[in-house]
Amino acid sequence: MIRTLVAIAALSLSAPAFADGHSAGDAEAGAKLFKKCKSCHMIASDDGEVLAKGGKSGPNLYGMIGRAAGSVGGFKYSKDLVAAGEAGLVWDEVLLAEWVKDPKAFLRNILDDPKAKSKMSFKLKKGGDDISAYLVSMSQ
Ligand code: HEC
Repeated sequence: MIRTLVAIAALSLSAPAFADGHSAGDAEAGAKLFKKCKSCHMIASDDGEVLAKGGKSGPNLYGMIGRAAGSVGGFKYSKDLVAAGEAGLVWDEVLLAEWVKDPKAFLRNILDDPKAKSKMSFKLKKGGDDISAYLVSMSQ
């Protein structure tokens, strides 16, 4: 498991990213890209303040970095994302950038299960690092 995580982090090194789990994203560019996430995700702080409006078919993305995958209370995740979180997947900027590129492929890779599926069908081809930086900036 840990080895897979390191391999994924290493893969992301072709993009401007660092092995310590931080990426070189641009939060302002990420804010623009978040428009693509809004149909399904909002950002609301722990005390319920809505920081970015959005839909509810995906989990609240507040405080995602540093949180175990599939662990926002009250959201009905795919069993595979929950399994990844239980196996030790904790979001950092690099992993999150990798996830948004292709959630299904990400889960298949990380769980080493060619049948794994995610409930998130959306793929963000470019700008994962920027989205990560934006989500960090919105959770401080
Ligand atoms: C069409 C709806 C949809 C869109 C658009 C979408 N997502 Fe998601 N997202 C989901 C769903 C549903 C899940 C739960 C996945 C699962 O359970 O397998 C999810 C899960 C996630 C997770 C994991 C959350 C956790 O608690 O572990 C992250 C991070 C995430 N999305 C980020 C994004 C970002 C960033 C964008 C925009 C670039 C985006 N999503 C766009 C529906 C969407």
